[in-house]
Amino acid sequence: MGIEIKIEHLTKSFGRQMIWDDVSLTLPAGEISVMLGPSGTGKSVLLKTLIGLLKPDRGSVIIEGTDIAGCSRAELFEIRQLFGVLFQDGAMFGSMSLYDNVAFPLREHTNKGETEIRGIVMEKMDLVGLKGAEMKLPGEISGGMRKRAGLARALVLDPEILLIDEPDSGLDPVRTSFINQLFVDLNAQIDATFLIVTHDIHTARTIPDNIGLLYHRHLAMFGPREMLLSSQEPVVRQFLNAQRVGPIGMSEEKDADELAAEEGHELPPLPPIPLQLEPSNGIPRRSQRAPGEWCRANGVVPPAGSFTDSISPSAIGV
Ligand SMILES: Nc1ncnc2c1ncn2[C@@H]1O[C@H](COP(=O)(O)OP(=O)(O)OP(=O)(O)O)[C@@H](O)[C@H]1O
Ligand SMILES: [Mg+2]
Repeated sequence: MGIEIKIEHLTKSFGRQMIWDDVSLTLPAGEISVMLGPSGTGKSVLLKTLIGLLKPDRGSVIIEGTDIAGCSRAELFEIRQLFGVLFQDGAMFGSMSLYDNVAFPLREHTNKGETEIRGIVMEKMDLVGLKGAEMKLPGEISGGMRKRAGLARALVLDPEILLIDEPDSGLDPVRTSFINQLFVDLNAQIDATFLIVTHDIHTARTIPDNIGLLYHRHLAMFGPREMLLSSQEPVVRQFLNAQRVGPIGMSEEKDADELAAEEGHELPPLPPIPLQLEPSNGIPRRSQRAPGEWCRANGVVPPAGSFTDSISPSAIGV
């Protein structure tokens, strides 16, 4: 059914480098959330903190009543079995075939025999479009294939929580569409709680139920997609619409001169909010809200043309 993750006042630094401070948010059970943020804002560090690979300086990550940040190793080992994780670099064992990489969590965490393991591995390899590549080594395949193999491995334990770091970097647009559809279908099937880190604005606008944005060492905003996609908050607006005008510059923040030069610049209107991608069988996901529901409930007028079918990616500048 998916499990809620409650993140409270999380703070992380490496030495004197503060990564983010006082991050609080709840990933609702069974929903898909996307985390955005300029490169280096600590998205991958956040994912690693959520599974206890990195310890925060302060704050807690509560999963089923256990605080990941302060629990024992034994408790952490238990809790980790709820997770499927796709690391940004795929994190494959270089000397093992894709088959053995994908089978690894099953051999490590279950008592299943090799026949049963084979069935599960082949099913997941098929799901991510890697049938036939089982015996290849990670070094012999493309970056996109490694990503998909990592995803197959993240799925073998039927996770309640899926953390996915940039599934679409290094994937061609067609594969990205397939993988996005796969996430939506998977979520409909297994109701797991998803957190996807992406730089792909089209993915961020069409897949999730919730969107978050890390910026300048804090969580700028986290909430239902319609809240962020209709937000006038300068950083959110700039990032979700991939615009140059706004507080974010090439080296994270613009200086006062750059910002002054932009003053008086008319911002383009917000692009329409697209419909959410639906499961391929046409049956809405459990967590899916009706288009415009959040806007209506909160008295927000969505951008003109929102929630119509006729939105092409070019209309949102991607
Ligand atoms: N183990 C570590 N030790 C020291 N510093 C680290 C460590 N891991 C990450 N960092 C630093 O933390 C910051 C955030 O890194 P992170 O990988 O989370 O960024 P990101 O938001 O995922 O960026 P990208 O979009 O490029 O993947 C970077 O400055 C990085 O150098
Ligand atoms: Mg990263």
